[in-house]
Amino acid sequence: MATPAPASKLDPLVSLCKRRGFIFQSSEIYGGINGFWDYGPLGCELKSNIKQSWWKTMVRTREDIVGLDATIIMHPAIWKASGHLDTFSDPMSTCKHCKKLMRADQTWEMLADNEFGAAMTELHAAGAPELGRVTAWCKGRGKGIAPNLAAVRNPDGILAVMGASLAGATFRNFVSLLASDNLVTPVQPCPYCGGELTEPRPFNLMFKTIVGPVEDPANIAYLRPETAQAIFAQFQNVLATSRQSPPFGIAQMGKSFRNEVTPRNYTFRSREFEQMELEFFIRPDEAIELLCGRVTTLADMPDLTTPQDNWGWQVWHTYWVEQRLAWYRSVGLPAASLVPYWQQPAELAHYARACVDIQYAFPFGIQELEGIAARSDFDLTQHQKHSGKSMEVFDEPLKLAAAKLDETARTAFVERVVADWTARGKGADEARAFVAKLLDGRYIPHVIEPSAGVDRMALALLCNAYAEEQVTDDKGKTETRTVLRFSPLVAPIKIAVFPLIKNKPELYAKAREIFGQLQRRWACFWDESGAIGRRYRRMDEAGTPYCLTVDFQTLEDGTVTLRDRDTMQQERLTVPALKEKLDEILLG
Ligand code: GAP
Repeated sequence: MATPAPASKLDPLVSLCKRRGFIFQSSEIYGGINGFWDYGPLGCELKSNIKQSWWKTMVRTREDIVGLDATIIMHPAIWKASGHLDTFSDPMSTCKHCKKLMRADQTWEMLADNEFGAAMTELHAAGAPELGRVTAWCKGRGKGIAPNLAAVRNPDGILAVMGASLAGATFRNFVSLLASDNLVTPVQPCPYCGGELTEPRPFNLMFKTIVGPVEDPANIAYLRPETAQAIFAQFQNVLATSRQSPPFGIAQMGKSFRNEVTPRNYTFRSREFEQMELEFFIRPDEAIELLCGRVTTLADMPDLTTPQDNWGWQVWHTYWVEQRLAWYRSVGLPAASLVPYWQQPAELAHYARACVDIQYAFPFGIQELEGIAARSDFDLTQHQKHSGKSMEVFDEPLKLAAAKLDETARTAFVERVVADWTARGKGADEARAFVAKLLDGRYIPHVIEPSAGVDRMALALLCNAYAEEQVTDDKGKTETRTVLRFSPLVAPIKIAVFPLIKNKPELYAKAREIFGQLQRRWACFWDESGAIGRRYRRMDEAGTPYCLTVDFQTLEDGTVTLRDRDTMQQERLTVPALKEKLDEILLG
């Protein structure tokens, strides 16, 4: 019996997003373009609410963070300095048979999601070497599903020889052996057709463009693959104009572009997306030691709610992990759905001291929403080296603290720093040059970088909000209600206003008047068509937390009916009482 292709777990949500105007395929009328998505009327409100909430939390309500809005195309030297030109690449393989290109490190993941993978799982689970079943599949269904798998192209030859080696093979080994023409070397199979893949080659993810009218290599520029680098490039300008000094941050939101080899999982991995990034600049730990006598580390079990002058990088990093988790919870992602992953030392980039991925349990697996990295002084140092412009800050209190050291304390400090640096594999001369500047009140700040994606957050909120439930109406009729249970803070529409009927001029005018008042404060939606029950259902699918109905009683006593999306309960209240209630909920 044919195994049906596993339906994407996202299918009902994708269909709702199209039906209600959250997300459309880009350029759909021309067949679409892979990896690009458009946000419709509700989708762009959702994204805007996410961004506003992030900006409010990260910039508006803090005194130590300021904003930046830089260009997407910047001087190409920025990408040389940052390392993106040389190393921002994914391993890419091509199928030798069907010629499809794909990310070599994602082929197993892709297989786990398709019909070929499902068939392999079934055959492997049947207990190798169920050679008869494997042969039957290769001669039958396999021809349609994985026509280029070695065992499908030559079932008798291959399976006769390798039957025994399939016994006890792990799943990957089992599939890799079936893909191997020489019967010995396991081959990573193409998830589309089972064919052999080429060795992975690095593929740079930056989109190239030409600046100006002349198509000359000298005019090549890149669409930014992250917003962060502009923050480093403008560091000195912001420092000089914002009256900030470390510890302080620069935040930026905006489009980024990556020519992803295999965009997948709906909007999760797109080629054009938006980021919300903070670069939080801190003093090096050695400066803290000079200023405060001692650096507070996590071992001291500090209270992480209120930043202190004596915090070292480790405490700042953990502080930002906590802050970011709190933000995700505040806009409606349950704590249990958020999975922080602390990268192991071997996984860290060479300049990073720590990195935590905040992951969300998506229907297609636990995947990254945000990375929070302690990046040392790597980025500013690189830009100083490549631009020839100083990225140092002058720290007056530090210079004063250093001046108070007597000769013995000064020498001991220098030796301690040199010993520490050399123990971490750095040169003694480099360490001495660093300390000399530090004692003069100068250093290149270190950075903690919480870097989040707007589109991934929108997808996580949609996945979290989506629910189907059985409801029974007053007449005992049961139906399926599809509802998006967004937090009111991010819901695209906060309140829908319905006149009970539209052909009663007085009632209609009253409803329009209330609608006009509410619209000045919140995103509202007017709906006058169809039965009230149907209007509720439409708003449930849009994720609107409240629906307000103006009826005959409104004309008598000024009260309206407010229906709650989640409880479906109704209450009568006056418009001022309603405004007060919503203010309390929506101020966040
Ligand atoms: N400046 C650091 C940086 O860009 P990243 O982990 O490459 O780090 C940060 O990206 C965040 O940007 C990710 O956690 C994700 O939310 C978002 N992001 C990255 N690539 C993406 C893509 N192809 N599609 C959608 N979002 C993406």
